[in-house]
Amino acid sequence: MAREILVLNGPNLNLLGIREPEVYGTETLDDIIGILGAHAADHDVSLRHVQSNSEGELIDALHDARTWADGVIFNPGAFTHYSIALRDAVSAAELPVVEAHLSNVHAREAFRHTSVLSAVCVGVVCGFGRTSYTMALDGLIAHLDR
Ligand code: DQA
Repeated sequence: MAREILVLNGPNLNLLGIREPEVYGTETLDDIIGILGAHAADHDVSLRHVQSNSEGELIDALHDARTWADGVIFNPGAFTHYSIALRDAVSAAELPVVEAHLSNVHAREAFRHTSVLSAVCVGVVCGFGRTSYTMALDGLIAHLDR
């Protein structure tokens, strides 16, 4: 049976393509999800995508994922760096979650070097633009196959 993966994107990622293209690239979120969906289909995986600018909605999506998802690819945006509530929601989901970032957060401002979520994720991918998402999916599939 096909695996089901939640792709969860946090604040400001709806503006991809417009927002700081020198950092985040020129592709829109729809472009990225389209490419990721094609890659997923090749691996018998179906994706559900949620983007929200609201911490509460991201928490609700993680709670809901408990009931149907095999795993989660999560770009929490700036919440990465300080949201203990999202960290607790990842723990509560009891699902393998891969943290993904377009940019190399470690090569940027010091406040981006800390993730309060990484320790409760199965892995982290950052710095490869949209390819971070396909790498996260490959890693998640390998984790689930184990
Ligand atoms: C980001 C990195 C975060 O530091 C930033 O706040 C974002 C995007 C990334 O994908 O590179 O919104 O998560």
